[in-house]
Amino acid sequence: MTFLELSQTRRSIRKYTTEPVSDEAVQQILQAALMSPASKRCNPWEFVVVRRREVLNQLADCRTYGSTMLQEAAVAIVVCVDPSLTDTWQCDGAIAAHQMLLEAADIGLGACWVQVFGRAAKSEGTGSAEDLVKTLCQIPDNMNVLCIISIGHKNEERKPRDLEKLQYEKIHIEHYK
Ligand SMILES: Cc1cc2nc3c(=O)[nH]c(=O)nc-3n(C[C@H](O)[C@H](O)[C@H](O)COP(=O)(O)O)c2cc1C
Repeated sequence: MTFLELSQTRRSIRKYTTEPVSDEAVQQILQAALMSPASKRCNPWEFVVVRRREVLNQLADCRTYGSTMLQEAAVAIVVCVDPSLTDTWQCDGAIAAHQMLLEAADIGLGACWVQVFGRAAKSEGTGSAEDLVKTLCQIPDNMNVLCIISIGHKNEERKPRDLEKLQYEKIHIEHYK
């Protein structure tokens, strides 16, 4: 598969079978993250791998919408970033997260980004989704939790992107207008 084909076929997958994801697959996904480019090579990210069903279910409940697929996921990888290391921490974390999405797709697994940073917690009065995730995964206060990558064997098929239907109008040659 070429990189363009991988880009076409990678879709957010939110339904998973109960089949376990191997340690080898998780290792490959993490290796892809650890090879991410980062500003000044400061590599401000840390990754928490969660497999315990009980914790996955609690993570699924961290937001009202957008995180429920974690109930079915075999693995979650929490992307934490240290904002004191670089002002590009969100970019660096996002690149690492996307590397994992691409690697998961390349090895035939389903994956989806779950936004945590800046999102409210599900239950009123419990603060942010980030605070909840930090407590559940014992993440130190100085770290920001950008997102969670939910991973599992696919239980839904999604169409690849149609190259003819891309938003080519967003491309501007030489000048914006
Ligand atoms: C920064 C970012 C935040 C996202 N947050 C969520 C989320 O919280 N829950 C979710 O189900 N999908 C989330 N997604 C996935 C997007 O909904 C998805 O990428 C988009 O709809 C395009 O679909 P595709 O990934 O299948 O191409 C997020 C994606 C990005 C890049």
